[in-house]
Amino acid sequence: MKFDYLKGKKGLVMLTAYDCQIAKLLEEANIDLILVGDSLGMVVLGFKGTSSVTMDDMARHIAAVAGSVEKTPVIGDLPADSYSNVEDALKNAKRLLKAGAIAVKLEGFKPEIISALIAENIPVMGHLGLLPQTAEKYCVQGKEIKDAERIFKDALALEKAGVFAIVLECIPSELAKRITLALKVPTIGIGAGVHCSGQVLVTNDLLGLKPGFSPKFVKKYASLADEIKKAVTAFKKDVQDGSFPSEEQSFH
Ligand code: KIV
Repeated sequence: MKFDYLKGKKGLVMLTAYDCQIAKLLEEANIDLILVGDSLGMVVLGFKGTSSVTMDDMARHIAAVAGSVEKTPVIGDLPADSYSNVEDALKNAKRLLKAGAIAVKLEGFKPEIISALIAENIPVMGHLGLLPQTAEKYCVQGKEIKDAERIFKDALALEKAGVFAIVLECIPSELAKRITLALKVPTIGIGAGVHCSGQVLVTNDLLGLKPGFSPKFVKKYASLADEIKKAVTAFKKDVQDGSFPSEEQSFH
């Protein structure tokens, strides 16, 4: 699939999905791209970070998502340690495509790996700024001039290597603006301010499915954790006082 149609587009919307039900709802909402991110590790599998997510995990959830949508392009994250060299990157990216992804995303400055994938007709989305697979601390990147310059140059190099878009995670909005203005391919921000060509969030975060702390860049558009607790508590009460199941839910 060619992603040229994304060039110059503003207001791009990408969201994560890990299962068939959410994937279908995202498609019904007509978003531009679905990402099966390796945030899967924290959101679904209960890991502390993304570094333990495996190729088996990614392939399984990509298949669940891709098998449930018809028109929305599904991008799959290459998990940590799956693209340390060209051979692994090719083998693993092909596996994610076979599972149903249309493109892969990988973190960091890896122009040779990216070029090798693109040479095999595998579309690649880059990811710069905060890189959760290798970060020691989750914090804003590119605040110092030399780091900002490095991220800026890396973005230009990734575009040259052929990525069709770049996720910019947790960088100052002025840096994201500079990168976005310098590139032809779209930038998709998460904690990177308003000047990116598009935005991505972890769907569970915007739905308010995770009680407690959420990062500054997340806006909760619903409070589903509270809704779920309310529903489960009501079910428990009905079971305990005998009002569920009623005649309506019973067979004769
Ligand atoms: O894994 C993920 O969900 C991501 C997004 C947050 C960009 O990489």
